[in-house]
Amino acid sequence: MTQPLRQSGKSQTASDQSGRGVFITFEGGEGAGKTSQIRLLTQKLEELGLSVVTTREPGGSPGGEAIRHVLLSGAAEIFGGEMEAILFSASRSDHIDLVIEPALKAGKVVISDRFFDSTRVYQGISGKVDMAFIKLLEQIACAGTIPDFTIIIDLDPEEGMARARKRRGEKVEPDRFEKDDLKDQESRRQGFLQIAREEPERCVVVSGKGTEKQVHARICLAIKGRLEELIVARRLGGGMEFGKKTAFKSKRAAAKRLPAKQTKQGAAKSGRGK
Ligand code: TYD
Repeated sequence: MTQPLRQSGKSQTASDQSGRGVFITFEGGEGAGKTSQIRLLTQKLEELGLSVVTTREPGGSPGGEAIRHVLLSGAAEIFGGEMEAILFSASRSDHIDLVIEPALKAGKVVISDRFFDSTRVYQGISGKVDMAFIKLLEQIACAGTIPDFTIIIDLDPEEGMARARKRRGEKVEPDRFEKDDLKDQESRRQGFLQIAREEPERCVVVSGKGTEKQVHARICLAIKGRLEELIVARRLGGGMEFGKKTAFKSKRAAAKRLPAKQTKQGAAKSGRGK
């Protein structure tokens, strides 16, 4: 009989998901705007009464942050893509054990800035490391901890690189992966889109064009249905009310609301509830 390669907390509780939090990951190329969108979504979910933990990869845990430094400084680059993929996976394994799984078990929403799709894309698709090797590392590192959904922010790499340059300032050198050329950035963009096509249940693609507010609105619309389902199925509650067209009502609005029948009439009278 084949033994599991590693046991994360999730594989032990897979049959009973009640009370388990929701795991959301953000992915995209350089300068796609993940950080600001994570901040806006976190605010929104907290307003709804959910407890949110935001984190990032590589890093997120003390061991993960130590490995982050090795990777982003470029110190591991000379050892090749496989070595880098192993290091990203080691960082992930620590991050899952110490941060992600404990928060999910405590019923929190975990939002991670990058996760395994970045390894598939950066090391696999654009870095040319064999995908079978990447998938094996995934099994070892993740042991069943898979995002409930993944938001891929899609942006033209030229625009993304310009934004990233502006963000870090002209004087600061790009990191190990920011310095890769436009061809690499384009193959990463296509890589994320390919994953989204292969796993439509898990992934949503949202255009990163426009203002922060516009992108945020697109994200809310894209994840609304799935998030509602998970919150109900896992009994995460927290003063939430999801109307047909008014997902993500604030906790304050939910607290004020009247019983269902009256709400309908009241909404019709006042013209609210759009
Ligand atoms: P970071 O400074 O966190 O910036 P951002 O996510 O905004 O781009 O950089 C992390 C870099 O590491 C990023 O260039 C993508 C890369 N990366 C990989 O190559 N593989 C991975 O598995 C992960 C998680 C990140």
